[in-house]
Amino acid sequence: MNPSVIPDFDKPLQRDATDAAKYGARSQVFGTAKVQPLWVADMDLPVAPFLQDALVKRVNHPCYGYTLQSSALKEAVQWWMREEHAVCLDSDSVLFSPSVVTTMSNAIAAFTRVGEGVALFSPVYERFYSVIRQQKRTVVNIPLLNEQNRYYLDLAVFEQACKAGKISMLLFCNPQNPGGRVWERQELTEVVRLCRKYTVLLFADEIHSDIIYLPNRHTSLLTISGSEKNTVLAHSIGKTFNCSGLEPSFVLIADATLRKRFAAAAQRTHTADINLLAKTAIQSLFSPKGQQYKIALVEYLRKNRDLLADQIDLFKGIDMMLPQATFLAWLDFRGTGLSHEQVRKKLITDAGIGLADGLVYGDNGEGWFRLNFAVCHEELTTAIAKLERVFSE
Ligand SMILES: Cc1ncc(COP(=O)(O)O)c(C=O)c1O
Repeated sequence: MNPSVIPDFDKPLQRDATDAAKYGARSQVFGTAKVQPLWVADMDLPVAPFLQDALVKRVNHPCYGYTLQSSALKEAVQWWMREEHAVCLDSDSVLFSPSVVTTMSNAIAAFTRVGEGVALFSPVYERFYSVIRQQKRTVVNIPLLNEQNRYYLDLAVFEQACKAGKISMLLFCNPQNPGGRVWERQELTEVVRLCRKYTVLLFADEIHSDIIYLPNRHTSLLTISGSEKNTVLAHSIGKTFNCSGLEPSFVLIADATLRKRFAAAAQRTHTADINLLAKTAIQSLFSPKGQQYKIALVEYLRKNRDLLADQIDLFKGIDMMLPQATFLAWLDFRGTGLSHEQVRKKLITDAGIGLADGLVYGDNGEGWFRLNFAVCHEELTTAIAKLERVFSE
C-alpha cells in the first residue's frame, strides 16, 4: 500500500482541539461532553496524505485571492462522474456550490413557489425538512415502507400526491440516509417516470454515492433515461474524502433552461462560487489516486460495518438495518421495550455514547438512533463494549 495515498486508518485521530462540530457541540446536544461522539456524519479517519500535500502546496503560495472555476476543475468533476458513476455530461452542465444543502435551498427557490409542496421520503436527513420550511414551502412526507428491516419506496402514495397536484418538487436521497439503502435501477426509473409524468422537479442528493458496499452498486439518477430533462444532482467530496469543512460541493444540471434558472437563484444568494482550497481538493481527489483512497476506505468501513452488525445481532432488542452504503448504521431499539426517551437517556448517561436521535429524521424515526461507524477499529470496539454493557443486562 502506498502511504502517500492510503493513511493508517487504525491510528486514533485527536479531534478535540480542532473545533470539530461532532466534539465541540456535545454539551449542547447531549447535555454533557462526556459521550463518545458517533453522531455528526463526518469521519474520525484521516484524509489522503496526497490531499494534505496538495493543500499545503497551495497554502504555501502567499496569495489567497479570488479564484476562477477553471476548466481543469470542471474536467476533474466530469472525469469522476464518468469513471465512478457512468454520468457523461459536458462541462457547461457542471456548477459549484459550498454545500449540498445550499444547492437544495437554491433549487427550491428556483423551481417552486412559496406554499407549494416539496416531497421527501422519510425517515431522511433532517435538513431536507428544515430547508423546505425555511423557504416557506410545504413538506409532503411520504413514509418509506420498512419490510424485513429494509426500506422500500411507497410509489403508490407518491403518485397519489402527485396526481392531487400537491407536489412541485421531490428531494430524493440516493443512496438513502439514515437507512443506507442503495436504490435499484428499476425503482429509480419509476421515480423518474412519475416525476416526468406529473412535472415534478427531481432533486437528486447523491452525496453518499461513493461509499457503497459490494455487491450493491449505485445508480445515479442522471443515468436514467429522461432524467436529464428535470433533474438537479448535488454531490460533494465532503463525505467520501472527509472534507466537509472545505465546503466543496458541485451541481450537475444537463438541461440548459433548468441550469439557467438554478444559476440565477444561486447568484441571488451569492453562493455560485467555490472556495479556493475546495477547488484544490477536488482537483487532487478526483484522480486515480483518489480512487485508490476510496477503495481502501470503503474496505475499512465495510469491516467496521460487518463487525458492528455481528455484535448488534447478539444484543437483545436492538436491530441494525444493514447499510448497503454510507458509514451510518440505523439502529432499531424498539425491541428493548423501552420508550424513545428511555433509550436516549440510557445511551447518554449509562453507555456514554452520543448517537444521532432518530426523531430528527421524521416521526417514523421513533425508537431509532443512528451510529456513525467511520472511526478507527479501537474506537468502534469501545463503542460496541459500551452498548453491550448497557443493553445486554
Ligand atoms: C443526505 C445528505 N445530504 C446532505 C448532507 C450535507 O451535505 P453538505 O454538508 O454538503 O450540505 C448530508 C450530511 O450528513 C447528508 O447526509
